[in-house]
Amino acid sequence: MSVPADRPARPIAIIGGTGPAGMGLALRWVRAGETVIVGSREENRAVQAAASIKGRVGETARISGMENSAACAAADILMLTVPFAGQASLIKRLKPSITAGSILIDATVPLAAEVGGRASRTLGVWQGSAAEQAAELVPKDVSVVAAFHNVSADLMGGDNPLDCDVIVCSDDSDAARLTCELAAKIPGIRPIDAGKLENARIVEQITALLVGLNMRHKGHAGIRITGLPPAAYS
Ligand SMILES: NC(=O)c1ccc[n+]([C@@H]2O[C@H](COP(=O)([O-])OP(=O)(O)OC[C@H]3O[C@@H](n4cnc5c(N)ncnc54)[C@H](OP(=O)(O)O)[C@@H]3O)[C@@H](O)[C@H]2O)c1
Repeated sequence: MSVPADRPARPIAIIGGTGPAGMGLALRWVRAGETVIVGSREENRAVQAAASIKGRVGETARISGMENSAACAAADILMLTVPFAGQASLIKRLKPSITAGSILIDATVPLAAEVGGRASRTLGVWQGSAAEQAAELVPKDVSVVAAFHNVSADLMGGDNPLDCDVIVCSDDSDAARLTCELAAKIPGIRPIDAGKLENARIVEQITALLVGLNMRHKGHAGIRITGLPPAAYS
């Protein structure tokens, strides 16, 4: 079962939301009028992170902070932004708190740097990708979407529009559509539905390439896909 794409306003819980990737998404979605819960292993850290975003966006910002399991229980749209090294154990711990029918959007990149390897390389993942690992671990009625791997957290945490595409992969087309809608709320981001979750294997690898480009050229690289019919970008 999946969340209908024509959803009423519902909170987005960002699990591991205190890091640069989660904070950037939280900032952009709160600015777009979404209700966001920042999740953390420590409630205090989550509350402080939420307060810092409220400080930037203003008092009307709909954002709060909670410990990760409470955040999961309070939302049915979950955005996972944790290092690969902690992804599996965190999902296993949070599993009882994940609401039936939730969607989990996963941005995890299995970078080799997490185990002392090169930042511009990825680790082999038994399931094929971090997103497929997540899909194996969530409750059966939870849909996993892979997205936001190729967006610079530095740029997302800033004030300017971005200039990149977000490749969205899922075996649940409704969940993919909802994720595309959320991505399109961020100025300068253009979501593209790339089909099945298995394609996350490629998208996660692209991040390693972008990390290498950033190191070589001292930038914040993103990607744009060209040559598709207009409907693919809408
Ligand atoms: N940074 C980027 O530009 C970027 C872009 C695209 C995708 N990504 C991917 O998005 C994910 C998050 O990136 P990030 O740079 O924000 O990472 P990060 O700062 O290293 O971690 C994000 C948050 O995850 C929590 N965390 C750390 N280790 C954990 C563990 N072992 N178990 C559970 N939670 C843990 C921490 O929150 P608490 O301590 O508060 O719990 C931390 O603030 C990564 O998989 C990364 O590859 C990053």
